[in-house]
Amino acid sequence: MTSALVLLGYLAGSIPFGVLLTRWLRGVDVRKGGSGNIGATNVTRVAGKKLGAVVLLLDAIKGALPVVLAVRLLPDAPTVHVAVGLAAVLGHIYPVWLKLQGGKGVATALGVLLVLVPQAALAGALAYVTVFAVSRVSSLGSLAAGATAVGTSALTARAVEYAGLSALLFALMLWTHRGNIRRLARRTERRF
Ligand code: G3P
Repeated sequence: MTSALVLLGYLAGSIPFGVLLTRWLRGVDVRKGGSGNIGATNVTRVAGKKLGAVVLLLDAIKGALPVVLAVRLLPDAPTVHVAVGLAAVLGHIYPVWLKLQGGKGVATALGVLLVLVPQAALAGALAYVTVFAVSRVSSLGSLAAGATAVGTSALTARAVEYAGLSALLFALMLWTHRGNIRRLARRTERRF
């Protein structure tokens, strides 16, 4: 059961909505424009706000749904919930369909945390909105969101495993945003 749920998490996470929707609806490859990332931020750059919002929603849902299923089927197994959530985010970052070249995992992590530590997801979203409004730099907002989610999870998570997951997801975000962090340090990061 656990392996099937983890596999389902990975497969759900690996659906590259950003690539599929921009190709189907706009006839463009999001990987060839802007930052080249397949996430909602770059879909917004390449294909507009509406499609960016749809991709944000779908990327979050593909993280949330497998975790909801895991919680329903095995309510007392936080380690399994964490494994399924992590698998979904890793599926987004390393999708087998795109030769393991996926996105940065922010929206999918948001979906996972909305189920397991909703306060952390909401605090993270608020941090994103605030930092983005001030800086107009999406990656800075994402990093602020991840850090805020770690702190909020440490204080509010129902299980220590969930707090550990938030920290792990933030570590993954630091890795996937390494190029952004380099550009932020050089003050050459893209602004909206
Ligand atoms: O969620 C991804 C965002 O943090 C950065 O995206 O396209 O600016 O590298 P991008």
